[in-house]
Amino acid sequence: MSESCRFPPDFVWGTATAALQIEGATDLDGRGPSIWDDFCRRFPERIHERSHPEVACDHYHRWAEDVGWMKRLGHSGYRFSLSWPRLLPQGKGAVNQAGLDFYDRLVDGLLEQGIAPNVTLYHWDLPLDLQSWENPEILQAWLEYAELCFRHFGDRVKLWSTLNEPGWSTMHGYLTGLHPPCQRDPRRAMQVTHNLLWAHSRAVALYHRIWGRPEPGLGIGIALNLSPVHPASDSPQDADAARLADGLLNRWFLEPVLLGRYPEEVLEFLRACGSAPHGDLDFAEPVSSGASEGGSIPTVDWLGVNYYLPHHATADAPTTDFHLNISGDPQEASRFSIQGLFRFVQNPRGRYTDWNWEVDPDSLHEILLRIRDLRRLPVYVTENGIGLPDRLCEGQVEDSSRIAYVTGHLRAVHRAMQEGVDVRGYYMWSLMDNFSWLNGYRKRYGLLYVDRQTLQRTPKRSASWFAELARTGVLQVQEPASPS
Ligand code: BGC
Repeated sequence: MSESCRFPPDFVWGTATAALQIEGATDLDGRGPSIWDDFCRRFPERIHERSHPEVACDHYHRWAEDVGWMKRLGHSGYRFSLSWPRLLPQGKGAVNQAGLDFYDRLVDGLLEQGIAPNVTLYHWDLPLDLQSWENPEILQAWLEYAELCFRHFGDRVKLWSTLNEPGWSTMHGYLTGLHPPCQRDPRRAMQVTHNLLWAHSRAVALYHRIWGRPEPGLGIGIALNLSPVHPASDSPQDADAARLADGLLNRWFLEPVLLGRYPEEVLEFLRACGSAPHGDLDFAEPVSSGASEGGSIPTVDWLGVNYYLPHHATADAPTTDFHLNISGDPQEASRFSIQGLFRFVQNPRGRYTDWNWEVDPDSLHEILLRIRDLRRLPVYVTENGIGLPDRLCEGQVEDSSRIAYVTGHLRAVHRAMQEGVDVRGYYMWSLMDNFSWLNGYRKRYGLLYVDRQTLQRTPKRSASWFAELARTGVLQVQEPASPS
């Protein structure tokens, strides 16, 4: 049995990357250091095979070749991030002209090929001089950076997002301590989520002040990591645990971004444990000319969804314990447990990758419907993909499980679109194998295989499959033969 899903002709097909993960040239042409460069230098043992981003995919020099690949792979859009320390080496103040020149070349090169840039301002590479999102000067520096980017590139870049995954970066930067700046303090973590969401909302308002309200489907958004949290059992305790985890990991970010306020239930919980953030908690953007009745309207023009995996929560959480599988050895279990609150466990019926990430397209469908029910607005899947230990054999990379993964998830997207979710595009993670943070270079996500010795790009089997999908806009789904 086979089925086909037809996507609209203007649906955006593309891939996503991030500056630190692909550019390399970290010490070249005036770029300043970021907290990730510093972390990798100071704690090499925390990263798989002591990998670092100094060369990465050398996209800084090979960008033209990479844009050529995008063209061949049928891209109509490409999501990438600007490196804040390449543009403002100290985080604020002096602008690095070589940085502007680099991104001018990239943006113009994309446009020449008919590929629409979708630019993220911040994908975790905070300039080292700024140190942390707790820094009292951060908001001002951030707005200076945002303004520079909006004014310089805004005539050509029509899709922007402020932050990539504030949930994931705060969780690991300030709660588990596994990412820089390596803090482990739930109270400070919640304050940082607020600092980030606040910075996001101010940047959105700034963009609208400079460029006005865009046409539907364009403008400024944010890329949130969203993972439905299912109860691990049907006990009422596990239902509560899942509800709390969902409140902290999903609703805490979704609701201020879409509705302009935090979820009251989660705020109450945080107040009760003394972890509620301080500051202005009302995110709605003031309306100048009575355009909406309530006097204020929610901010983003579109929402970016980064979806990889769901969670399963149990209330049985006797300790606080965090660990991420960084080796890709399935025996190295990931652990996420907050004493007395909730602990994530494996789904006994789930399918998992070697890094213990569950493969579950239905949860993407679920999250898209939740967004629809909160607020109807254009949505882009800004990241989705699978990390595999791909191997190059006689010039070929056989990655049929990537094709199966993307097929399953796009089918879920298509189903959600038929049910009224306004999905405008899909950016697969990623264009090419890259520096996968703590996982180093072993966890490969690309359509292009990158040889770590020569940096040569080789299209995997999924690359030609993706090109055909983007060209036709039709996803062919082969049902597995049913046992008779
Ligand atoms: C991040 C990417 C990352 C990907 C795969 C997402 O959380 O935005 O930067 O490489 O996951 O791990």
